[in-house]
Amino acid sequence: MRPSPGLEMRPDPSLQAPVYVRQLAPYVPGKPVGDLAREFGLAESDIVKLASNENPRGPSAAARAAIADATNDICRYPDGNGFALKAALSARYGVTPDRIVLGNGSNDVLELVTQAFLRPGDQAIYSRHAFAVYPLAVQARGATGIEVPARDYGHDLPAMRAAITPATRVVFVANPNNPTGTWIAPEALEAFIASVPEDVLVVLDEAYNEYLDPAQNAPTAAWTGTYTNLIVSRTFSKAYGLAALRVGYGIMDANVAAMLNRVRQPFNVNALAQAAALAALADTGYVDESRALNRTGMRELEDGMRALGLAFIPSHGNFLLIRVGDADRVYQRLLEQGVIVRPVANYGLPEFLRVTVGLPAENRRFLGALQSALAH
Ligand SMILES: Cc1ncc(COP(=O)(O)O)c(C=O)c1O
Repeated sequence: MRPSPGLEMRPDPSLQAPVYVRQLAPYVPGKPVGDLAREFGLAESDIVKLASNENPRGPSAAARAAIADATNDICRYPDGNGFALKAALSARYGVTPDRIVLGNGSNDVLELVTQAFLRPGDQAIYSRHAFAVYPLAVQARGATGIEVPARDYGHDLPAMRAAITPATRVVFVANPNNPTGTWIAPEALEAFIASVPEDVLVVLDEAYNEYLDPAQNAPTAAWTGTYTNLIVSRTFSKAYGLAALRVGYGIMDANVAAMLNRVRQPFNVNALAQAAALAALADTGYVDESRALNRTGMRELEDGMRALGLAFIPSHGNFLLIRVGDADRVYQRLLEQGVIVRPVANYGLPEFLRVTVGLPAENRRFLGALQSALAH
């Protein structure tokens, strides 16, 4: 007998996805301002978002002008090879353009590495409490992620080196790391890279590089000439203030770049993003001011934590990881006051909240809201 209409067992095409895709837990971004405004009936202008490590100053005037100008041509496809932006990056870092891969955010560069180099059965290594995209990108290719326990919340490089096996294809290192803000000094970093077998790629994710004191900066772009297995990724999303446009880049050996370009979408970086990034790159004064503002704001947040008796992890980025205890409860109480920060339980840090350094008024608003959230 046929089952009555509507009750028959219909095949579920989603079950055709590989099991490693079905088991992926999607990336959880910071709560959008619009969502909080709707949920709590707040005006968007009253909400402070310190949840996604964006530059609170926004883009520079030069970048805004370049975007406005570029809108005239958006009926055309962008330059799929990003000639002008690559030329500028090439001049800045002293590497030929064929050693640069542009990405739709640096996230895209990370994905391209996994797409070009990982297949089921391969292993990729990353640290516990490191950026959440590494395990996701690895699992999406059916490869096996090896999470190495952290040391003092940062990368334990000797342990990561020891975790390399003949099946290892890629090692991810975030410097500074998100969400912990930990940083590896140049000597230790280079010694690690030199110790990795030459056929294992090292992805050095420097999304927060521009926030480092220039004296702390390692010549990582130049290292890619020495270590052909090194890929350095950078972004315009953070200090350059262009997160919504999605533009980042990787610097690497030309042959490795050629592999990423094989799997890259033809027009992965849009025209407004290319124009804005080109202008932003030239505006070094804006990045310097942003770094200085970040440093002052960071001191203000650290002082605030001391005053509240809260422990924090000293940070080299534009964010601070704070131990608040019942992080879920404190997060909710902050939301009620119109302040969005980032819970990090999914990073194995259930007692912590991550707060991005904001403008001076935003930092004060956060500190006040945190004080009442804790007093509750
Ligand atoms: C460590 C790290 N790497 C990469 C990214 C990706 O940034 P984007 O894709 O905007 O360049 C982020 C963003 O939060 C990050 O924290």
